[in-house]
Amino acid sequence: MSEIIAIISSPRTGCNSETIAKSIAEGAKENGKKVKFVYMKDLEMNPCKACNYCKKNDRCIQKDGISALIEDIRNSCGVILTAPLYFGQTCAQYRVFEDRMYSAIGPNGSNVPAGKKVAAVVTCGADAEVAQSEADHMNFVFQKYFGAEPVGSIVFKDSGDKDAASKDAEILNKAKELGKKF
Ligand SMILES: Cc1cc2nc3c(=O)[nH]c(=O)nc-3n(C[C@H](O)[C@H](O)[C@H](O)COP(=O)(O)O)c2cc1C
Repeated sequence: MSEIIAIISSPRTGCNSETIAKSIAEGAKENGKKVKFVYMKDLEMNPCKACNYCKKNDRCIQKDGISALIEDIRNSCGVILTAPLYFGQTCAQYRVFEDRMYSAIGPNGSNVPAGKKVAAVVTCGADAEVAQSEADHMNFVFQKYFGAEPVGSIVFKDSGDKDAASKDAEILNKAKELGKKF
């Protein structure tokens, strides 16, 4: 059975976005899915070089943690995308990942099989509306370029508390319910 890949791009261990992704995973597991967590802070990763090797060769020229993650995504049945909001955008680690997904668009279009389910989680300190627009964008990229099917998104405001999500039964329940859609 293929897995769901949960991408944790926050550099913080035990962070709010990870807590919410774990609840999504719980819901998905109740539906018989397996979930693999990938922590970007542990990956050796480089930004896109815009060399366009992928446009002739259907693969990225770089071999690092991100190319391995993209291969995991190819083989997955769904993706949980997570990012904290930094200065009104997803964090740098997520931006590097999203740019590198350009390498999954080859000479014949996307080389990621279509039909994967996708959900986006964006955590923020205060700017929930901006976070929602970033979450919508994360889902949009996977839908438009890789034929994924968004099943929803979650935005969470931590008001400066790293453990806020773990104390919020409502958001954890909402996340678990979202997970059941995978
Ligand atoms: C560098 C940096 C920039 C941030 N910029 C914003 C911001 O523009 N708007 C906002 O609402 N929160 C901002 N925050 C707060 C984080 O988005 C918030 O704490 C988030 O919940 C962290 O997610 P995590 O717990 O998953 O790491 C910023 C935090 C950091 C470290």
